[in-house]
Amino acid sequence: MMIDKKEQIGLSSDIKTDHLNTLDMNFEEFTSKHKDMFEKDLLSYITSNQSDKRALLEEAMTYSLMAKGKRFRPMLVIATFLMFSSDLKKIMPLACAIEMSHTYSLIHDDLPAMDNDDFRRGALTCHKKFGEDIAILAGDTLNTYAYEILSSELNYDSKKVLDVIMNFSKAQGIDGMAGGQMLDLVGNSSQKKAAHHLETTHRLKTGKIIESCILLPAILENAPDRIKQLLKEFGQIVGLLFQITDDILDVVGTSKELGKTSNKDVEHNKLTYVTYYGLDTAKSMAANLVVKGQELADKLNNKVYRDIMNFMIKRTF
Ligand code: IPE
Ligand code: IPE
Ligand code: MG
Ligand code: MG
Ligand code: MG
Repeated sequence: MMIDKKEQIGLSSDIKTDHLNTLDMNFEEFTSKHKDMFEKDLLSYITSNQSDKRALLEEAMTYSLMAKGKRFRPMLVIATFLMFSSDLKKIMPLACAIEMSHTYSLIHDDLPAMDNDDFRRGALTCHKKFGEDIAILAGDTLNTYAYEILSSELNYDSKKVLDVIMNFSKAQGIDGMAGGQMLDLVGNSSQKKAAHHLETTHRLKTGKIIESCILLPAILENAPDRIKQLLKEFGQIVGLLFQITDDILDVVGTSKELGKTSNKDVEHNKLTYVTYYGLDTAKSMAANLVVKGQELADKLNNKVYRDIMNFMIKRTF
């Protein structure tokens, strides 16, 4: 059953809802409509006002942050927020903070002690350009800055802001990205448990932050519980699917299009959906998730969400 847009978000009929039309776009149109505004806000947070050697740290942060990222997470934040409000300025601090924190995770993921990658977002990785020491600091600083922004720039009541900070810190910590990266590092020696280990790794290392992008705007905007529940379910599917398609792209994608070196997972002996299940099974698992995600997108009456599911399996970068 489809929920009427106004009904689903609990709006009375006298409230202006033109912005909901924005959710009738495909994801590509949606991204081109919002990306510039988002990147302008993102850059505005990093103002070059360091007069001493810290300017180099700021340069390294800006270098990785403003390189060619897809901005998938902030677009998820915006596509969710628009279900409830048109006042996009209100949600930009959340979108920017999440992109900063995600960029931190990429900088550290690329370090020699982790995945040892030379290219990211179509350019040299942060440590290749600035050295490992500065790259570590750039990651640390972007992550800390994300919390500074969440705690100082979100114009909502403090209880909700606290909820957001609690939820997001969890999504990054041992029950989220960092914990998932730990599971990713160790792989799994027991073949019997590998499938479970793999799914947990993906749900944590990539899924939790993506789930936050989809749930947190709804928390801030006081969405009804049944909508938050649907958003949680949708977020879990998007999160898992995004990492499965990252695994697939590592094998079928080109370094040029990906902006990072392809075929690294086999080389590094990584446990991924492709190395474990094989390419065809990984693709059909992804296709099953798309169907489930689209059912939820329809229930939420969000066409951008529906097209995001298509985007994820069709993407080449
Ligand atoms: C790459 O994320 C790392 C994963 C969690 C799979 P993205 O594919 O979103 O990378 P950018 O932000 O576009 O560079
Ligand atoms: C990274 O997963 C997930 C993060 C938490 C950053 P990958 O190691 O597969 O991401 P890529 O392929 O380097 O972007
Ligand atoms: Mg990795
Ligand atoms: Mg990596
Ligand atoms: Mg990968």
